[in-house]
Amino acid sequence: MAPAETSSREYAISLDRSDALKFTRDEFLIPTKAEAWSKSLIAVGSGAGTSTGAGDASTAQQSQAADDNSAPCTYLVGNSLGLQPRRTATRLRQYLDTWATQGVQGHFKPLEGSPLPTWLDADAAAASMMAPIVGADPSEVAVMQSLTANLHFLMSAFYRPDPAGRHKVILEAKAFPSDHFLVETQIRHHGLSTESSMVLISPPGSQQQQKDAAAAPAPVDPLLPTERILAVIDEHAESAALLLLPGIQYYTGQLLDIPRITAHARSRGVFVIWDLAHAAGNADLRLHDWDVDAAAWCTYKYLNAGPGCIGGLFVHERHTRVSTGPSDEDPASGFTNRLAGWWGNDKATRFGMSGGFHAAPGAAGFQVSNPSIVDITCLCASLEVFELAGGMAPLREKSRRLTAYLEALLRDMPAEARALFTQITSADPDQRGAQLSLRLEEGLLDKVMDELLAGGVLVDERRPDVIRVAPAPLYNTFEDCFNFVQVFASALAAAKGATAA
Ligand SMILES: Cc1ncc(COP(=O)(O)O)c(C=O)c1O
Repeated sequence: MAPAETSSREYAISLDRSDALKFTRDEFLIPTKAEAWSKSLIAVGSGAGTSTGAGDASTAQQSQAADDNSAPCTYLVGNSLGLQPRRTATRLRQYLDTWATQGVQGHFKPLEGSPLPTWLDADAAAASMMAPIVGADPSEVAVMQSLTANLHFLMSAFYRPDPAGRHKVILEAKAFPSDHFLVETQIRHHGLSTESSMVLISPPGSQQQQKDAAAAPAPVDPLLPTERILAVIDEHAESAALLLLPGIQYYTGQLLDIPRITAHARSRGVFVIWDLAHAAGNADLRLHDWDVDAAAWCTYKYLNAGPGCIGGLFVHERHTRVSTGPSDEDPASGFTNRLAGWWGNDKATRFGMSGGFHAAPGAAGFQVSNPSIVDITCLCASLEVFELAGGMAPLREKSRRLTAYLEALLRDMPAEARALFTQITSADPDQRGAQLSLRLEEGLLDKVMDELLAGGVLVDERRPDVIRVAPAPLYNTFEDCFNFVQVFASALAAAKGATAA
């Protein structure tokens, strides 16, 4: 048989066929097109998701009429919310059965035949499964709270500003809003002002820069060159206390050079925290080896634990040592002070109910409350799938191939379509994860999003003009990338036509 043309569906299917990780897709519940269009709640397995249920039929949708609407939709939104692993329901059922049949004994009584840890050990078990995903020792990881809360906990422990010395926090000007709020309120919490203590890194040529240089506005590349980040660190080397950056920038999809930036900041005496919301389960991370001070991430994106699920936190072992027990003179001696709760107390004395916080060694000592076992059960169900896949190295390898293929298909679109969008994510595979961010010509976004959905494709939008497209290697296929580009081409044409009309 002649080899398929690289721009054909057959070629995409041939890539999927030879994909060593193709089996992990079956581990996930992928919404059908009919489900994605449905305006009613559909019970999984009821068969209702196989009806047309298409809601408002649009042109693109009608042209797809021959398609089987019970086929999976093209889901490229793992950067926002990962899909549900099939085993999540099984593990949750087992958790509910444990609770129903054991009550309080579920905390400490191991059950024969149960794949679940006792609830007292669930946090440690989850941390052990999470550690390889971020390249950490299990003792350096805690599974707790949620991302923004964890960043606050980290800053409360490690941001100790000295108004006469190191007091500034450096972050990017376009940081995710929650990170801005975090830094602003932490600075104010210490009685300082953002004017003097907050430093924003902007891309070269951005408005901030142009204002400084009184230059005329120019189109700006939103990516942050590493050299620019290092230069800002150097500029504030004497007064900066802390650097907070995203491993992968949520809007542009830029993967920052975490090892280089970390080493540079640390060499200047700056404490480094990474927000890994978009990097955990996406990039191949080596937090321990890269000497990162601390990091936090959510688990509902590439980690597929479900909306708002429990977060993850890393603290390098050099900051988590506990050298002495509490003494009456200085109860906080021998460990970094922090905002504490009983779940961070040394396990040996946690239930002693005596006063005097004695930090557990490791990141576990940063825990505050007893964790939601529902959350941990969902998270670990997904982490089981990461284990089946062989961990991050093979996933990242597949992810690079998927995203490069998507990029090539976009590049090869007809010139009229190609003229209607720009890829803002770097073309260098080392400077991105799974996601490609595409900036559309002004005024096209709404119609393009409608047409994509009508064509059974889910991506996400960042108003006013950007869509983010993220093939996740655990469940996306090369054919998904092919489908997206096909539907995107007609969506762009329809949107352009609508603006001309
Ligand atoms: C980069 C980044 N930081 C912080 C957050 C806030 O996360 P959470 O609501 O879990 O605190 C998000 C949420 O998507 C994010 O993308």
